[in-house]
Amino acid sequence: MKAIILAGGTGTRLYPITQYISKQLLPVHDKPMIYYPLSILMLAKIKDIAVISDDKSLVYYKKILGNGSDFGLKIKFFSQKKPNGIPEAFKLTRNFIKNDKVMLILGDNIFYGDSFVKKYIIPAISSNKPCIYGYFKKDPSHYGVVSFDKNFKIKKIVEKPKNFVSNYVIPGLYLFDKDVSKYSAKLKKSKRGEYEILDLINLYKKKKNIQLKIIDRGVAWMDMGQPDDLSKAGQFIKTLEDNHGQKIACLEEIAFKNNFISKRKFNEIINNMPNCNYKDYLKNVK
Ligand code: TTP
Repeated sequence: MKAIILAGGTGTRLYPITQYISKQLLPVHDKPMIYYPLSILMLAKIKDIAVISDDKSLVYYKKILGNGSDFGLKIKFFSQKKPNGIPEAFKLTRNFIKNDKVMLILGDNIFYGDSFVKKYIIPAISSNKPCIYGYFKKDPSHYGVVSFDKNFKIKKIVEKPKNFVSNYVIPGLYLFDKDVSKYSAKLKKSKRGEYEILDLINLYKKKKNIQLKIIDRGVAWMDMGQPDDLSKAGQFIKTLEDNHGQKIACLEEIAFKNNFISKRKFNEIINNMPNCNYKDYLKNVK
């Protein structure tokens, strides 16, 4: 099983911040944005992970994630010269995916909820079928939207529909099989000059059985495209962390609790941290 975090993009809607920094390096409350999608993959026990970004930003992703060994992971980095669309990720990582299944998560997506991974990701991986998700939005008009029948069979997938199709939008989390690089290579660029994830999903729909899982309201899903989203997500994480006194997406804690790293390694990592709240928190993790 492989996974990809797609962390490139232009971040136009976050200008002027994104003039000098990649969106997924920005803080969401107390940690870089990329920690959140990475934590989801770790909670799903996926250890082989590709991080994709542009050359300039990869320097920083390498700095904060290293080769993944501090988190018990194997992280490889791939360069996307230009944001040519989500399916390009599967072409860039063809030799990394090989004949495995692969989950792709967008670097600016946060999922939070009781049993999210257990309820929605693990069963999808075990079923051995490609999978996309649907999430209810009152106003779905700015997203890729999916309509389906009473057995959750996908009827239609439409990008930013002008007329109402369904209230269910497709979040940035996708599970594909070993054919994904091959299918991605068949796609043509759309009018806006990108390879489109919806074209890839439609191709899968034509060729094989792609399942749809509807994520219910017990899960919060946020994508951080705009300044408001960023502040709201930061506030959301802060509220949760303040209430519980426990951190969300603390990678070292997850690695330790998953037995991805030994107690010795965990202590070594903590000792190498500068004095800060994050370190104090980790010192108390049992
Ligand atoms: P978007 O939000 O569609 O694009 P963006 O991040 O460049 O922002 P804006 O629309 O404001 O210009 O991208 C969603 C996520 O996918 C985000 O984490 C960036 C990533 N992405 C890539 O890494 N490469 C790509 O080619 C595309 C299309 C997106």
